[in-house]
Amino acid sequence: MLKIADSCIKCGACQECCPSVAIEVTREKGPVLVSDACIACGHCESICPVGALEKTDLLHNEDVPLDKWPVLDARTAELFLRARRSIREWKPGIVPRTQTEKLLQIGRYAQTGSNMQGIDYLVVESPEVMDELLVLLTEWFRTHPDPVRQETYQRFKDEPRRFFRGAPQCLLALHDPATPKTFRNGQFAFTYVELYAASLGLGTCWAGYLEAYLNTNDAASRKLLGIPEDRVVCAAMLYGLPKYPYHKLVTRNPAEIHWR
Ligand SMILES: Cc1cc2nc3c(=O)[nH]c(=O)nc-3n(C[C@H](O)[C@H](O)[C@H](O)COP(=O)(O)O)c2cc1C
Repeated sequence: MLKIADSCIKCGACQECCPSVAIEVTREKGPVLVSDACIACGHCESICPVGALEKTDLLHNEDVPLDKWPVLDARTAELFLRARRSIREWKPGIVPRTQTEKLLQIGRYAQTGSNMQGIDYLVVESPEVMDELLVLLTEWFRTHPDPVRQETYQRFKDEPRRFFRGAPQCLLALHDPATPKTFRNGQFAFTYVELYAASLGLGTCWAGYLEAYLNTNDAASRKLLGIPEDRVVCAAMLYGLPKYPYHKLVTRNPAEIHWR
């Protein structure tokens, strides 16, 4: 339901921004819900310049009124994004759960298809489970028929911890395979996690090898990790306390842009 305060100026912004074309604004009636296709994204509420609109069926416990939309200036944003690095060297120590929770909470604000969200997280913080996971992963590579996997195995077999870059812990994003659209949501969430990590004094590295193995969804890893029955892994990330800071920004290939 829409609750509209008298302060509504009927500007039409809520109608324009609604992804579901669920709101219509007229001079006579103001904003009216015209469809039940709302995806609960909250755009209508947050674009309202006078705070006159409330969608009463949404959660509101985390709402924060903004005096000014907090946008980084372009140079700061560029430096922030370019300074993100994959961390592969770690200080000893386990990240406290409070920090891990802060890190994962940010993932909830990443974009998701149709605002479906639908991501759970699994944190592996036990060194024993990390070790057992490494054993399973190494065996998967050892017996894999693909020559590329074989080549990786040959490179890593004498020091299998390189599969995890010696990371003490890892994060897994889980989704419900019955809603395949949510698979990518875990990856978007971890992109947020990765960008936020440095601000919490943490480092992350995407765990592609681990992800490839866990995507097999085999019974051994499911049992070891206690993955809930209706969930599968959609993204994996190593994390911990970074050992070194970085001292320069690097160059990437120029963007190939095709204009039409
Ligand atoms: C999907 C994905 C999987 C990755 N898997 C691994 C991995 O298993 N091990 C690793 O050391 N780095 C992994 N990386 C990190 C890339 O090597 C890294 O992003 C790339 O070299 C660029 O470095 P940067 O992230 O520091 O800019 C992965 C990155 C992505 C996006």
